[in-house]
Amino acid sequence: MNSVAANGAAIPAIGLGTWTLKGEHCAGLVEHALKAGYGHVDTAAAYENEQAVGEGLRASGRDRDSYFLTTKVWWTDIGEGALQRSAEASLKRLGVDHLDLLLIHWPNPAIPLAESISALNAVQRAGLTRHIGVSNFPTALLSQAIRLSEAPLACNQVEYHPYLDQSKLYHALRDAGMAMTAYCPLHRGGGLLGEPSVKAAAAAHGKTPAQIVIRWHVQQEGVVCIPRTSRIERLAENIDVFDFELDAAEMAAITALRRPGSRICDFGFSPQWDAA
Ligand SMILES: NC(=O)c1ccc[n+]([C@@H]2O[C@H](COP(=O)([O-])OP(=O)(O)OC[C@H]3O[C@@H](n4cnc5c(N)ncnc54)[C@H](OP(=O)(O)O)[C@@H]3O)[C@@H](O)[C@H]2O)c1
Repeated sequence: MNSVAANGAAIPAIGLGTWTLKGEHCAGLVEHALKAGYGHVDTAAAYENEQAVGEGLRASGRDRDSYFLTTKVWWTDIGEGALQRSAEASLKRLGVDHLDLLLIHWPNPAIPLAESISALNAVQRAGLTRHIGVSNFPTALLSQAIRLSEAPLACNQVEYHPYLDQSKLYHALRDAGMAMTAYCPLHRGGGLLGEPSVKAAAAAHGKTPAQIVIRWHVQQEGVVCIPRTSRIERLAENIDVFDFELDAAEMAAITALRRPGSRICDFGFSPQWDAA
């Protein structure tokens, strides 16, 4: 599996997203994903599935060092002390002794960013995680986080798909040597997969529309993609994207799908996003 260099971290370019996966079903998917060649799993304290993810990791029989594990601290828990306790509880539920990447899930304007970033650094210094990063940070907050952090931040996990223009954030992350991890990379598998430019590339390369969109992500330098599937039979499909290349015209046609109003994850507690 190709990986993305991110300030000292090597993040496998595709990971299994696990939001909404629960219990035995989640454990089975994680187990099969690791057996099918995945080297990266994305979870979060808020997904309430870390225990199931941990069961799947163990059932796969894979060595801890052979896969990259990311979890996140919910935005209400990013104060001094609370963040450390959240990380420790995640490790316990996952049944591992360290994470590869710990992210602040969302910024919280009620808690000073300096305090959160300091707590995140403390968790890394204590050896609970190899790398640290953020999620859902627009460019202004990202540059503050970078300035405040003693250790380099490895990534910003944000919504990204062909409908959403994230070029401003992308360039800021490239300048900082950080990865951009794309969540909702398939736009939840809706109309995007029926777009003529996606279907045309799929026909030209003998691939599925989902494989074309995943390839579009990982073909951009510094982009990591974490598609979720709830179906075992789709796991192999979603990582089988490294035996072909989209040409410049195909990349451009898919990029041209960007349009305003396409953001999926926008909540009352979301920060002020960068203008698309
Ligand atoms: N940091 C954050 O705030 C944040 C927010 C949202 C998500 N995330 C992370 O990002 C991950 C991915 O985002 P997401 O789950 O929201 O959306 P997504 O990966 O864009 O879409 C998932 C949907 O795509 C479908 N799908 C997957 N593979 C397919 C294929 N080969 N062909 C057709 N359809 C396919 C799935 O259906 P089936 O299940 O039927 O295959 C599912 O309904 C999450 O699971 C989570 O780990 C993070």
